[in-house]
Amino acid sequence: MTDLKILGISGSLRTGSLNTALLRAAQKYAPSGLEISIYEGLEGLPLYNGDLDTEETLPAQVRELREQINAADGLLIATPEYNYSIPGGLKNLIDWASRPAATSSLLHKPVAIMGAAPGNFGTVRAQLALRQVFVWTHSDLVVKPEVMVFKAAERFDEGGNLTDEDTVTLLQGLLDSLKTKAEHPAG
Ligand SMILES: Cc1cc2nc3c(=O)[nH]c(=O)nc-3n(C[C@H](O)[C@H](O)[C@H](O)COP(=O)(O)O)c2cc1C
Repeated sequence: MTDLKILGISGSLRTGSLNTALLRAAQKYAPSGLEISIYEGLEGLPLYNGDLDTEETLPAQVRELREQINAADGLLIATPEYNYSIPGGLKNLIDWASRPAATSSLLHKPVAIMGAAPGNFGTVRAQLALRQVFVWTHSDLVVKPEVMVFKAAERFDEGGNLTDEDTVTLLQGLLDSLKTKAEHPAG
């Protein structure tokens, strides 16, 4: 049987991003049968504009995004929290991916969310906001475990490797849940 394909999306563009590092850890600790690639196009996405959202005018980067999501068996999102909510770039990606609503790439798509932040409440509010978004898109959200990596800077080494065993265990639990959903997609 071929591996299930998961598209990882980081909400941060920073080279030293904790959230991108968390996605890399997910690649390392993925269960057998789950292959995680990381989306590279966030920075190149134009702002959502309904006038461009037609078959004739759709930006190539958006077409590529939708194709990558359609081809994936599930999404794994690692989000920072910006001002108690979803970073604008990530929200913009979701807005593009969510159209046209009736046939969108996010419809029934298994989605797992996680997030890392240096502070004490690592991404709690951003993840709640994301969960709300994925209700409207009718995605198949992994509910538990919740992976909120607080005090995240202490859990990675200087090379961006996840060194905290509890976080590894939590991450593996999330990946197992995502794998189960990807194996049995709703529809
Ligand atoms: C515009 C902006 C807003 C932020 N707002 C919050 C916030 O509301 N809550 C929080 O815990 N951290 C906040 N932070 C700090 C981020 O959690 C921190 O920069 C984190 O490392 C970003 O994730 P990254 O390492 O993946 O880039 C904010 C950072 C920026 C740049």
